[in-house]
Amino acid sequence: MKLISKTQNKVAELLTNSHTSSQLEISGNGSLQHQKNGAEDLLNQFQNVVDNNSFYETAELIFTEILDPKQLAQCAELACKREPGGAFYRAKLWARVSQIIEARREDDSNQLKLSQVCNQVGVGLTRAKGFVAQGQAIINVEEAGVETTILRKASPLLFQYAQRQRTGAKEYLIEAIKFLETNPEATHTQVHRNWCQKNGSIKANLDIIKPSDWWAFSHPKWRQEEDFPGSIPGEVYANALYYFAPQSGIAVDPMAGSGMLKRVYEDRDLWQKDSNFQLKIELFDLHPRRHFIKKHDAREPLPIKADWIFIDPPYYGQSSHLFTDQLACTDSYDSYLRVMKEIITALAESLNPKGRLCIFLPKWSGFRLEDPNHDIPSDVYSMAIACGLNWIDTAYVSRGRQQEPGSATKNNMAKRDRRMRSDTCVLNVFKKGGNDNV
Ligand SMILES: C[S@@+](CC[C@H](N)C(=O)[O-])C[C@H]1O[C@@H](n2cnc3c(N)ncnc32)[C@H](O)[C@@H]1O
Repeated sequence: MKLISKTQNKVAELLTNSHTSSQLEISGNGSLQHQKNGAEDLLNQFQNVVDNNSFYETAELIFTEILDPKQLAQCAELACKREPGGAFYRAKLWARVSQIIEARREDDSNQLKLSQVCNQVGVGLTRAKGFVAQGQAIINVEEAGVETTILRKASPLLFQYAQRQRTGAKEYLIEAIKFLETNPEATHTQVHRNWCQKNGSIKANLDIIKPSDWWAFSHPKWRQEEDFPGSIPGEVYANALYYFAPQSGIAVDPMAGSGMLKRVYEDRDLWQKDSNFQLKIELFDLHPRRHFIKKHDAREPLPIKADWIFIDPPYYGQSSHLFTDQLACTDSYDSYLRVMKEIITALAESLNPKGRLCIFLPKWSGFRLEDPNHDIPSDVYSMAIACGLNWIDTAYVSRGRQQEPGSATKNNMAKRDRRMRSDTCVLNVFKKGGNDNV
């Protein structure tokens, strides 16, 4: 308490001086003016205070009481030498600098510019703008009534990550606070990973809906869940819904696996743009791995009629380590196709008129020279046509296998043996009824 009142006195002294003396004005040539007054004392105190709490208290007082942009900027640059608290107060104080400059500019268009303050304290304008954005995000969080004390210990990188979210910076910090409250020792990387798991990286968010039929997702937004390594990038579902699902009705994944469809649909605000999807999502699987997935064998017609169905079956010859069903563990391509035929027949029957069926499958190329190639998408395409469905469109999805860590040997073998690896999944989309492909 003693310290607070001492500091308050100093601020009061400073304010008295700042209102009455031109000593506290920023000089045009950018040099520091000689200031034997309360401001200098406060700056000295700010620089020399050892105890963390005293530092925080002084910083908060400076934030609310000092009105001179240059002195605030000086304080910001002093603050950043501190750990903990440096990054937090540097950002807040630069935001305050900007607020004061903006407020004054409304009264006088010749007023001081941020660039001048930057010159005076030797900080580049772009950097300063970054600190302003970070500090404004902190202030926005505080104005929303969220306690930010825990962020005082955060590293500069946490605030930089927040800044990169642009309009999402406030939400980023709120999420960081929640995470730090339950994981007080978390690093900025862990905080950021938590954010990306829930919200995706900026790049991923921008890339979700593809403009063409070539779908490559280098920054998958919906990560695979640890207990289910066989899921596909959620972006495939997002694009398949966006381009091929009706706005309302029943959407079914009969081979739901991890339930990725549900996750992606729940996050539809990230990709639906000006659509307003109001679908009912139904998930089934032969071996349900989530409580919200019902047990059903896709070889039988679905218990409900659907307007949009998406299947991502176990891939021929490459799924026996993941699943135990007949498709995954088949001993021959013929038996794989027999099961697929039963499934396509049952699903065609389960569609409402004008309903859509999306079938997601890769071609198969074995490693050995004597292995035959199987054009599975094409063979299953024929089954769908034989069931009376009409083809609408095809998209090609990169599996990114060439770039996978440890794939150099396989890539070299493929080139040596003149045998291309299968690196693409094909999404064929069919419609029930009508012979137009819309
Ligand atoms: C590749 S996984 C689907 C992954 C899912 N797309 C995802 O992203 O989480 C294939 C799923 O099909 C299921 N499956 C295999 N045969 C089935 C059948 N006859 N009926 C229903 N589901 C089946 C498997 O249990 C497995 O969960």
